[in-house]
Amino acid sequence: MAEIRTIGVVGLGAMGAGIAQLAVEAGYDVVGREVSAELGERAAATIGRFLSRKVEKGQLGEADRDAAVARLALTTDLEALAACDIVIEAIVEELEPKRRLFADLDRICRPDAVLATNTSALSVTEIAAATARPQRVVGMHFFNPAPLMPLVEVVRAELSAAEAADAAALVGERMGKRVVRCHDTPGFVVNRVLIPLLNDCVRVLDEARVTPEALDTAMENGAGWPMGPCTLVDLVGIDVHVHAAEALYEKLREPRMAPPPRLVAMKNAGLLGRKSGRGFYRYD
Ligand code: CAA
Repeated sequence: MAEIRTIGVVGLGAMGAGIAQLAVEAGYDVVGREVSAELGERAAATIGRFLSRKVEKGQLGEADRDAAVARLALTTDLEALAACDIVIEAIVEELEPKRRLFADLDRICRPDAVLATNTSALSVTEIAAATARPQRVVGMHFFNPAPLMPLVEVVRAELSAAEAADAAALVGERMGKRVVRCHDTPGFVVNRVLIPLLNDCVRVLDEARVTPEALDTAMENGAGWPMGPCTLVDLVGIDVHVHAAEALYEKLREPRMAPPPRLVAMKNAGLLGRKSGRGFYRYD
């Protein structure tokens, strides 16, 4: 396929904004799509702030920042993605909305465009099956926070062509990421291991009768984690973690995969972590 120059990013929440930031920094033209102009502008402002912080720290030149910011075009119109060489989807972590979006992208995008999903635990194969081009659909799984975490998992679904995975891997590498390729299994590599581990951490809170602060201190200082599990789940989003755990449990049926009731209750109460201002901790 032709060289990738223009990347579409659908959904400019924490993950999508981070992916769009990586893409403009890597020199790609980016079309970022949100459902409202206000949400799009909020994401663009966040990206601008992080790039300016890099300028302050001497990690990026001012002219490079301005050029990167200028490479981001915002839209609320899905049709604006027609010109993209690859589209990376980062919307809500639920199968049906993703399948509907991929069916629309399949209609809108050029037949040779690659369609990538940033899903953490859903089946890439089931998402690809909503299109008439499953050979051009892959997983491109970034980790939170996307601009800082070095890994991207490039996931080959049942019918993905090797060239589509190669194109996604090349984009990941040009963004400065370490790319690990894998096949479409529940949770891929990292979340297959991390989600049950984080679920266990939450269960230990009640079993060992420790506070979130104590658990975080224990895991940071006893296991060398860069941030404790409660801080991490708050960062990822309680809702995102619960959805991912449910998806894994549905496929693998291992009790450790099921989201602990405490997390489900937090999600239902709107305690979603950092993004809602309160999870295990409060964020003002
Ligand atoms: N762009 C540019 N810079 C950014 C940024 C962004 N989007 N976001 C933050 N930064 C900057 C911060 O501003 C900060 O700089 P200043 O303090 O100078 O302003 C700098 O990055 C580093 O911030 P920290 O001091 O907080 O950095 P740290 O050394 O503590 O590391 C971390 C932060 C990389 C997040 C580290 O704590 C870590 O590795 N945590 C674990 C994260 C993890 O496990 N993520 C995976 C989650 S699971 C997942 O994502 C899977 C899934 O599918 C759900």
